[in-house]
Amino acid sequence: MSVSAGDRNPLTHLTLDQLRRRTSVKWRLHPPDVLPLWVAEQDVPLAPPVADALRHAVDLGDTGYPHGTAYAEAVGGFAARRWDWADFPVGRSTLVPDVMMGVVEVLRLVTDPGDAVVVCPPVYPPFYAFVTHADRRVLEAPLGSDLRLDLAALDEAFRRARAVGDRPAFLLCNPHNPTGVVHRDDELAVVAELAARHGVRVVSDEIHAPLALAGARFTPYLTVPGAEHAFALLSASKAWNLAGLKAALAVAGPAAADDLARMPEEVGHGPSHLGVLAHTAAFRAGGSWLDLLLDGLDANRALLGALLAEHLPEVSWHRPEGTFLAWLDCTRLGVPTEAPGAGPGVASDLAGPARMFLDDARVALSSGHVFGAGGAGFVRLNFATSPAVLTEAVTRMGRAVGRRSAG
Ligand SMILES: Cc1ncc(COP(=O)(O)O)c(C=O)c1O
Repeated sequence: MSVSAGDRNPLTHLTLDQLRRRTSVKWRLHPPDVLPLWVAEQDVPLAPPVADALRHAVDLGDTGYPHGTAYAEAVGGFAARRWDWADFPVGRSTLVPDVMMGVVEVLRLVTDPGDAVVVCPPVYPPFYAFVTHADRRVLEAPLGSDLRLDLAALDEAFRRARAVGDRPAFLLCNPHNPTGVVHRDDELAVVAELAARHGVRVVSDEIHAPLALAGARFTPYLTVPGAEHAFALLSASKAWNLAGLKAALAVAGPAAADDLARMPEEVGHGPSHLGVLAHTAAFRAGGSWLDLLLDGLDANRALLGALLAEHLPEVSWHRPEGTFLAWLDCTRLGVPTEAPGAGPGVASDLAGPARMFLDDARVALSSGHVFGAGGAGFVRLNFATSPAVLTEAVTRMGRAVGRRSAG
């Protein structure tokens, strides 16, 4: 019997009952009547090559410490096949516990306490918390109204960053969470030129890189001319839903090799061996599964556009080019947004439209205000779920808005 493309879509394999048996934060933070479309976990089963690698390790009792360069080699193969990155620098890479710990450890190498780290809000909220916790100062260069990098704002922010301290950095989100923008190579080339001009070190978080959707092309920052002093963080965690299996890779540009060599040995004690095995299998052999996922996400992106037009015409969005995240402008719904002064916060903080959608529609979304400047009045919706759940969620949201306007 042949299997239709729909049956092979990883987003349609699991029922809500199966998903509700999961114990991760997506499924346990809220009561069971809530449809959780907030944190960046996907409603997919494990990719078969990843499950096989884990089963094999468990059968062998292969649960010790990680060793070697297999993760970097697997990323290198994937990067060559998918992004035409032919000379991936395995020798200039090192295992880190996860992307955010990798970001922090790289920032510790290239900046000093009190130095400025530029970010482009609205952006992944932990960029604020982790940078601040590492005693660096966050400096905002907000995205433009088209949600793309505002290169003039970056120029100005880099200039101010230099005034704050001697060794500033720019924490780039490539592709961008929460907007799903996939930065173009011409934009990244200007970033590199500005960074060189102002003496700013670029750290590129590329966790969503494998998730460029149909029509977009991901550019690894380290392949951009002028990016020799930069670092990138890569991981299988988002694309293959492996956040619970800790591992990631920090990669240095050629002129950053000496900095990478100063990475303290203890950082390499953080990644889990099972995480390394799972991520390695994903990059090495998870490409066909990823293609099926990308088809499913592309279809969900189109479905979401149609559902918003039908049920929530006042809500607008820029169709994401990558990731499984949609950044929805709810400012026209007339829901009071956050108190002035509310800033970036933890991912589960709720205010404004996200609070209303949880209370009145029983749909959990991420609240825009935690993503920094420009986030209030927005919500982030995770569409890595089945078309059925997506349809039910947006229908509920539309009904809740209808009841508010009627009441
Ligand atoms: C842009 C970005 N960076 C980092 C992370 C977290 O990655 P990790 O769990 O490897 O620290 C996420 C998770 O959603 C993310 O979206």
